Amino acid sequence: MPKLNLKKKNEDNAQEPNCAKKTYKFQVLELILNPIVNNIVSDNDLSIIKQTRANRQKNSSNSWKNLLIWGENKSIMGSLNHKFSNKINLIYIDPPYATGGNFESKTFIGENGTFENKKAYSDIWDGGINEYIDFLYDRLLLMQNLLSENGSIYVHLDWHVSHYIKVILDEIFGKENFRNEIIWAYPAASARTRRFFIRSFDSILFYTKSNEYTFNDDPGIYMEYSDRVKFALKEDGKGMFYYRGGSHNGKKLSQKVYVTNKGIFPRDVWTDIPYIRANTLEYQAFSTQKPERLLKRIILASSNKDDIVADFFCGTGTSLAVAEKLGRRWIGSDVAKQAINISRKRILDVWNSNDLIDWKKKYGRRSQPFKIVRTNEDTQAINACKDFLVENIQKKDIMSLIQDTKFVVNISKKDSKIMVDLVDYIIPNLNLIKDNIKNRIKNFSDWIDSWSIDFNHQEHSFTTAWISYRTLKNRKLELTSVPYNYEEKGKHKISIKVNDILGIETIQDYDVVIT
Ligand SMILES: C[S@@+](CC[C@H](N)C(=O)[O-])C[C@H]1O[C@@H](n2cnc3c(N)ncnc32)[C@H](O)[C@@H]1O
Repeated sequence: MPKLNLKKKNEDNAQEPNCAKKTYKFQVLELILNPIVNNIVSDNDLSIIKQTRANRQKNSSNSWKNLLIWGENKSIMGSLNHKFSNKINLIYIDPPYATGGNFESKTFIGENGTFENKKAYSDIWDGGINEYIDFLYDRLLLMQNLLSENGSIYVHLDWHVSHYIKVILDEIFGKENFRNEIIWAYPAASARTRRFFIRSFDSILFYTKSNEYTFNDDPGIYMEYSDRVKFALKEDGKGMFYYRGGSHNGKKLSQKVYVTNKGIFPRDVWTDIPYIRANTLEYQAFSTQKPERLLKRIILASSNKDDIVADFFCGTGTSLAVAEKLGRRWIGSDVAKQAINISRKRILDVWNSNDLIDWKKKYGRRSQPFKIVRTNEDTQAINACKDFLVENIQKKDIMSLIQDTKFVVNISKKDSKIMVDLVDYIIPNLNLIKDNIKNRIKNFSDWIDSWSIDFNHQEHSFTTAWISYRTLKNRKLELTSVPYNYEEKGKHKISIKVNDILGIETIQDYDVVIT
């Protein structure tokens, strides 16, 4: 079997055969059980917020929580290894493709939602293709280890590198475990070039860990009939049918054929899934975001309810949102804070997204509990806001910006009820921020993307009981929380967290006494 003979790949393997030796402790940033969001309160929510303390005890124990992890995925996978080795049923990844470019996402500002482009991630490799292949090789080895015996992996790439990575996947997973190279052809692709044919597909390489793997003939994965067949389909009391033509002795015959599924079992060329458009509910203004329909087909085919689906390059959290809506458990990670913020809001707001079974409806259900954790690396915080700051800024200035930023709240008390108003947001060293951002801020709340409250804060993790956030479609931010009713007298700690448009997260704690 051909192998890519890369120098570093061989050295690394000699030293560290399973790439899983380094482990980092995860720091829990947030526990999201079932908060009230944007002050939309149903009876169900009220009972939930009352039970937060009881829930917390129950939930902080061993019950499963989906995981959103902020950090470098090599160390993340190394750390997950002891708990999840051979446990993950499906991995989908959509890593950088060595395109040699930077990708952007839009950061929206304030209520009217003007936006600023921001680098989402870089796909430039100083060490060229070798460096890229080394990067992915290490991570694919770790994924192979995490995958369960009946598990599958889908690696989403394009013409830049899919041929190299196929050789590596053959080596890691075994040529015999190759299942498909799926061609996702996006119908509306266009380009200005007239010097070669327009490139209009991505390759998704599908491998399994063994020959005993999950693959479901689920009606949800079927492709629609072509327009010609759809046009010919009719319905009667017994179902959908078409006439199959033929002739005998020069006489035209036709036979009524009933069809059981509303479509055809997919081939490996998928032409029925358009690229994301800005007017859709799922659009997250992130240039490499993938469509939910694509992930729906993959997740329905290669996993079952309650299986664990992981995406270690999760971006806007497409695979996580789809796994959530299809009743799978999920683990997602990304090194970019902005990607984590987008994924967090996307999962919180999943009830407002399209239902995957009946697309015209909204999903309408709140997400399952999830945890946001990070690997303990200070540099992450520094990178989070860099794009909005003046050129050549020093590390220590970024740290002081992060540490000195604060907000002001009014906490009002009536009997055993507490309400919080957010009244100001103060960035003392505004000189560090680029003018085109500063000039667009008309009100303190324009700085803010989301804020949340833990009414019963206990030492280790922030448990979101209430949150207000802006989405692309709904720019309104509530500045007053719903009243929270304490059932126990005495001193309670309230923790409040504000996430701003720059990527800075500020947490302040307050004591309240209920008499
Ligand atoms: C092509 S995008 C994924 C888009 C995603 N499929 C979606 O639908 O939104 C690739 C993502 O990988 C992340 N990434 C790149 N290198 C990473 C690393 N070493 N660890 C974790 N995430 C990484 C980038 O920040 C980026 O968000």
